[in-house]
Amino acid sequence: MNIVIIGAGYVGLTTGACLADLGHGVTCVDLDAERIAQLVHGRMPIFEPGLAELVRMQAAAGHLHFASRPDTVVPLADVVFIAVGTPAREDGDTDLTHVEAAARDIALLLRSEALVVLKSTVPAGTARRIRQLIARRRGNSDIAVASNPEFLREGSAIADFLGADRIVAGADDEASRALLEEVYEPLTGNGIPLVSTSTVNAELVKYAANAFLALKIGFINDVANLCERAGADVSDVARGIGLDKRIGTAFLMPGPGFGGSCFPKDTRSFVQTGRRLAARQHLIEELVDKNEARKRELARRIIREAGDKPAGKTVAVLGVAFKGNTDDVRESAALTIIPLLQRAGLKVRAHDPKARAAASEYLEDVEWRATAYQAAERADLTVVLTDWAEYRDLDLRRLSGAMAGQTLVDFRNVFEPSEVIRHGLRYVSLGRPPMA
Ligand code: NAD
Ligand code: UGA
Repeated sequence: MNIVIIGAGYVGLTTGACLADLGHGVTCVDLDAERIAQLVHGRMPIFEPGLAELVRMQAAAGHLHFASRPDTVVPLADVVFIAVGTPAREDGDTDLTHVEAAARDIALLLRSEALVVLKSTVPAGTARRIRQLIARRRGNSDIAVASNPEFLREGSAIADFLGADRIVAGADDEASRALLEEVYEPLTGNGIPLVSTSTVNAELVKYAANAFLALKIGFINDVANLCERAGADVSDVARGIGLDKRIGTAFLMPGPGFGGSCFPKDTRSFVQTGRRLAARQHLIEELVDKNEARKRELARRIIREAGDKPAGKTVAVLGVAFKGNTDDVRESAALTIIPLLQRAGLKVRAHDPKARAAASEYLEDVEWRATAYQAAERADLTVVLTDWAEYRDLDLRRLSGAMAGQTLVDFRNVFEPSEVIRHGLRYVSLGRPPMA
């Protein structure tokens, strides 16, 4: 099939490269001409493990192309995916400006047999509204709009796409359904379940899935607080509950509050949809507030660990990305926590394997270091905020030797407590009693 993808970000590029890998001819269109120029020259605008190699391979094989305008490529397309950003508006609702602009851009270019598919995360009813928008522009309603939400995670995007737990295909007519099924046949033919449903159902699946996953994280963060008071260990509690198949072990890692480009905005949007349709999502409303409060509470905890007079002390922050394996800092806990530490007078030295450039746009007066050990050099305390695999492998003797102070605050529970204290450090982690 001939597929065009509008938006070459994390989702658009991954979708494009993977669909090319599955045998389709794909062109990724992005109005960011610099991004397209980079891609044409084999350079990746984002860090996503394995994606650079897959993009280069598919481009070299002639299966994947790039364009900064839709004009010449959309008229040849069987299916056009829209995978542009859907950020949160000030009031928490989803800003559909980019989706609407993309729909307007392509409306007059589409063949009448072509199908438009919304890959972006959009609120219930958007596919139907975009269908009307395109119909108004074309002066007829020949173009159908389907909904095919994406469930990939940054950091494991390719594996998540090609090995998805399920594909959700929302369509409101048989022809659209058949086209979508054809796109994904290489995956469903290999046993990946297809949830074939209406567009509004598909749109709600996406928000409900993210809200539920975020709830699991909010829940385990609360349980971690309880474990600290009860002298219990949250990792054992999480494993103990997670092995019940109805609960599942995934997404039960306590942390400094969920971040990223999706959970925070999607939970807020879900809340707004609930309010608009008079079916309030009280659980998620509370979750959103608690998640923000958690970031501030953990900042206070770090300040307390810095002693009675935190002003002038140095804290080494390991990790500013919203999670490991990504250079993305959108809504990362570090962006809330670091300024609060600075406001308390702490000097912040930081390290991140990939996210320094992105974080530098939001953070001021941070001394960046090239390695975790350099960041910890003469630091009064070291704080882990991102679960990068390389932090797990740190030589704790070397880290402890580099620091002036003795406290290691680990808000990702990357270390084994007994290992940390064996190296002479005081260890503060989540959901486990402090150890010295
Ligand atoms: P992104 O910001 O990384 O990329 C969006 C791209 O779209 C940008 O490169 C931008 O220049 C381009 N763009 C915007 N308007 C355009 C237009 N009119 N024409 C052409 N290009 C245009 O966004 P993302 O993280 O890939 O997210 C895209 C959507 O997918 C969002 O709705 C998001 O909620 C959803 N989603 C994201 C993830 C994720 O892990 N990032 C996972 C699942 C779903
Ligand atoms: C999340 C979902 O996992 C994807 O299924 C979804 O497609 C995507 O949002 C989206 O809609 O865009 P992502 O944001 O890439 O993916 O990252 P996650 O791995 O889900 O992590 C989100 C946040 O929760 C991170 O800050 C992470 O550190 C935190 N988290 C995750 C925890 O604190 N504990 C956990 O057990 C899991």
